[in-house]
Amino acid sequence: MSEYETILTSTQGRVGWITLNRPEALNALNTQVMRDVVDAAEAFDADQGIGAIVVTGSERAFAAGADIKEMEALTGTQMLLEGHFAPWSRFAGVRTPVIAAVAGYALGGGCELAMMCDVILAADTAKFGQPEINLGVIPGMGGTQRLTRAIGSYKAAELILTGRQIGAEEADRIGLVSRVVAAAELLDEAQRTAETIASKSLPSLYAATAALDVARESTLAEGLRFEQHAFAALFDTDDQKEGMAAFREKRAAAFRHR
Ligand code: CAA
Repeated sequence: MSEYETILTSTQGRVGWITLNRPEALNALNTQVMRDVVDAAEAFDADQGIGAIVVTGSERAFAAGADIKEMEALTGTQMLLEGHFAPWSRFAGVRTPVIAAVAGYALGGGCELAMMCDVILAADTAKFGQPEINLGVIPGMGGTQRLTRAIGSYKAAELILTGRQIGAEEADRIGLVSRVVAAAELLDEAQRTAETIASKSLPSLYAATAALDVARESTLAEGLRFEQHAFAALFDTDDQKEGMAAFREKRAAAFRHR
């Protein structure tokens, strides 16, 4: 039996897969899903045999948001005392590159979960949105901040204030996703992209995801300072020596740490 109640996990080569598995609730993100996803992502992150992680849902829903039925009766005091969504920051802090493979609904917390990932691959059936305003609340898992940084203030404001859903084509046009693929191709394409990433040197992947996080979270000056340090630090790795020697010798790099 799987150690997780609400997700399925597997590995394919150096790629770790996390599949949300609450079909009866369109993968709504309750406390147990949060615990399972965070624990599984951290377990893959601690495994140097894994060079990329894919998070996905079903054909119908990546995730239809935080679990409204679980949240409905909570008070603000409880939310503050329990730090209701706080464990998601551990997911966002995973160093291994994470790809969200999104088909169907990615609404509210589902859209926010996708935006915590490094790469978002969208099926042409994907539907994104922040409908919290229709529930008398606002996004609570990072949506007001990450969506604004991803697509800009005015586009984010319109989506957050109206609750309008957008399709994959519009999400691609406004920069919310990395790429759109045919729904039937989504999982294969996610595996292929993850394999490409996982074939690189782990120290450079970790440095890249950390630098991308800083870019998403800080000013340009802070980001550039971080990038310079991370770039310099990689010159003390044997994989940098190997990668550059391989280029000079016109051969494929044989990275030690992958
Ligand atoms: N929480 C709890 N249950 C949910 C859910 C959610 N976010 N989304 C769907 N479900 C449940 C439904 O209640 C339904 O269960 P029952 O059969 O027991 O009634 C089941 O999943 C199937 O859903 P529907 O019958 O509604 O399916 P549909 O195809 O008619 O509609 C939908 C699909 C448009 C996605 C609709 O389910 C919907 O609007 N869901 C809620 C979307 C939403 O508001 N998300 C934001 C949540 S708040 C949030 O995420 C806060 C935050 O920032 C962290």
